Amino acid sequence: MKVPYQVIFLFFGAVFGVTAVILYHQVVKNVQESAVVVKQQEAPKETPKTVSHLGEILYINQCASCHGGRGAGLVDGPSLINERWVFDEERIAWLISRIESGGNGMPPFKGRLRDDDIVRIVRHIEMLNQMASYERKKEKQ
Ligand code: HEC
Repeated sequence: MKVPYQVIFLFFGAVFGVTAVILYHQVVKNVQESAVVVKQQEAPKETPKTVSHLGEILYINQCASCHGGRGAGLVDGPSLINERWVFDEERIAWLISRIESGGNGMPPFKGRLRDDDIVRIVRHIEMLNQMASYERKKEKQ
């Protein structure tokens, strides 16, 4: 049987067309997926880890020169490690207001630091206290 060349053309044309459509969709899908990935990277969620990391950087830059890298105090500032401190709402509010107002040799930070950065620093002080109490417990053992 002799197949007319138009039929062969149509057949290969159809196969080629379908392949092209499938490939096109896959390429578009890939591009869209990578666009989503880029978007997620641009706006990282503030996980607790990134918060404490920011708090640490802020603390080292703004406070450590007087209060020491681990909060144990230096010549220019008292220790921020206190066994009696419980980091409840009251203590956190007190720390925020202490940091904002300064005084007696400590510079006031109200207006110099953003409110949420001050909270990050307070969280870091809490972490320094937890580390100190962990060290104390280890020494007692
Ligand atoms: C130039 C040195 C200096 C810097 C910088 C400094 N402080 Fe102080 N800070 C002090 C001094 C001095 C005191 C004691 C003031 C007093 O006796 O009233 C103090 C007191 C404090 C207290 C009260 C402690 C207590 O037990 O009463 C806190 C909390 C505190 N600082 C946190 C911070 C934080 C957080 C930062 C950084 C954002 C910071 N300080 C930066 C010198 C400093």
